[in-house]
Amino acid sequence: MPPVEIDASALPPLGMPPADFLRDYWQKRPLLIRNAFPGFVSPIEPEDLAGLACEEMALSRIVSHDRDRDHWRLRTGPFREDEFPGMPHQDWTLLVQDVDKWDADVAALLDCFDFLPRWRIDDIMVSFAAPGGSVGAHVDQYDVFLLQAQGRRRWQIDASESPSLTFRRDVELKLLQRFSPTHDWVLGPGDMLYLPPGVPHHGVAEDACLTFSVGMRAPSAAELLGDFVDTLAAEADEALRYRDPDLEPPRDPAEIDVAAMNRAVEALNMLRMNDPERLGDWFGRFITLYRSSGEVIAGENGRSRIEIEWDLQHGARLVRHPWSRMAWRKGGRGSRLYVNGHAIALPARAAARVANSRVLDGDDYAALGQAGQDCVFELYRTGHYHLQMDADGDDGGNGATWWPEDGSGQ
Ligand code: SIN
Ligand code: CO
Repeated sequence: MPPVEIDASALPPLGMPPADFLRDYWQKRPLLIRNAFPGFVSPIEPEDLAGLACEEMALSRIVSHDRDRDHWRLRTGPFREDEFPGMPHQDWTLLVQDVDKWDADVAALLDCFDFLPRWRIDDIMVSFAAPGGSVGAHVDQYDVFLLQAQGRRRWQIDASESPSLTFRRDVELKLLQRFSPTHDWVLGPGDMLYLPPGVPHHGVAEDACLTFSVGMRAPSAAELLGDFVDTLAAEADEALRYRDPDLEPPRDPAEIDVAAMNRAVEALNMLRMNDPERLGDWFGRFITLYRSSGEVIAGENGRSRIEIEWDLQHGARLVRHPWSRMAWRKGGRGSRLYVNGHAIALPARAAARVANSRVLDGDDYAALGQAGQDCVFELYRTGHYHLQMDADGDDGGNGATWWPEDGSGQ
């Protein structure tokens, strides 16, 4: 049985080669990773999180617990700045979703998770908890890496075979009626707890603390089917229908016979659901759009191609919009780059380079080749890349700096 706890000081962030982690733990069993990020210093402060929770576009919640009455209260943001100084000294948590889209330093942490496909990662949620603060014992449907960023949090988990999963009816939050922990740890800065889906857990702040949850996306089978069928249906030719030129006089006019059912299957097959190219193309578009709560909208990207290329040759960089999600795929009919639900035909090398480049400098751009450069300029025009004139983040005066002032782009 692989151990449930490891010290990663010598091999951060997992304490083992990624292949071993994926084989033994990923989607299978929890792992407490001490020193996953040795000497970790949180890139944001609780005040930054509170500031973000006041933004219209940010998804934020406050969960408070009245211990005496075991009463839970959930409030959703945006919150007013003047609400925070008056908050109690204990037993509440502020949670903000998608902090990686708002803060470049938080987003940079995702590079440490490149042992997973990037399109599997949903967001980094950050929580601030006052001492005693918690969101109660619960289960999540998705894998999560809970990185302790500041202060200490006590995590209890139930790693037993078949934990009890009945929920309390008296609370708005999906809290477990019974929780019997099998493990109990206090995590400090840099420690990280990996939980596969379905493991009951309960995290209580020992002192005021920040926790980063790197959460995964995993569409349900029903979502996948629904979206795929919608896509096929939207593209289908109306002339493709149930047909029966071979019809013979029915034995019983009310009966749906075997021949009729075969024809129904034939009509469904006309949609070419099994065609790997259509399936691949749909999945690339679906997964780069799935669960995205922000949108990329073209802004003031008014520079001409010649100007952009001149700027890139003179130290400017193209920086990807935080809500822009990319993936690529080698298909039977050529490679495709997928960008927020769109498919772009591109040679495999260029597609891979663009998909992996959050930032492109002049050399990166030059190495893309003609098709890659055409594609990047189009992505710049449509808002997926933004020109940054120098390393300090000066944007050359076109007025749009995404980080850290405005992560929304909406
Ligand atoms: C938290 O950060 O308080 C909750 C995270 C979780 O349990 O998934
Ligand atoms: Co959870």
